[in-house]
Amino acid sequence: MRTKKVFSHGKTLDARLYELVQIMDKNIFFGCANEFKVNREWWVILNDANKIIAYCGSIYTEGICIYIRAWVRKDNRGKGLQKKLINIRYKAALKNSHTVITYTTKDNYPSANNLISQGFKLYFPEYAYGGKEMLYWIKNIG
Ligand SMILES: CC(C)(COP(=O)(O)OP(=O)(O)OC[C@H]1O[C@@H](n2cnc3c(N)ncnc32)[C@H](O)[C@@H]1OP(=O)(O)O)[C@@H](O)C(=O)NCCC(=O)NCCS
Repeated sequence: MRTKKVFSHGKTLDARLYELVQIMDKNIFFGCANEFKVNREWWVILNDANKIIAYCGSIYTEGICIYIRAWVRKDNRGKGLQKKLINIRYKAALKNSHTVITYTTKDNYPSANNLISQGFKLYFPEYAYGGKEMLYWIKNIG
């Protein structure tokens, strides 16, 4: 198993995997906004057969890092991969951000538990950018 960054701030680092993530994301997060824009980073976790078993992304804007998407293939769930995705993004955010934020649906207990275990706290955003029905999470850097 290995982690690979496939896109970083407008630069495609692995064209095949980046394209694959976009195709997968359209199906997995069907109907959600297109998040494949310039001010983003995307990572994948590959298994030993080089298949994508997890992926995630971050948006960077004005010193804030926003986690977008996190997906772990069903047969790999419950093994700490989402925690790994949370920490990969946190490490990257250390370089240019003072705060990390994200949101989850209210019934996503695994994500909530993973975020809490990695030091995130619930907060009320001034603007509920993901919708009023979401839970919002924050972790300050430094
Ligand atoms: C959400 C998701 C990324 C979690 O991936 P994962 O790495 O397999 O996470 P786990 O299943 O190991 O669960 C994480 C934690 O939540 C706990 N948990 C799992 N199911 C739970 C439930 N139904 N109720 C309460 N806690 C639960 C686990 O015990 C674990 O905590 P622990 O490590 O302290 O034991 C994965 O289920 C997924 O890809 N879902 C579909 C896409 C999605 O919802 N993405 C998130 C968008 S925010």
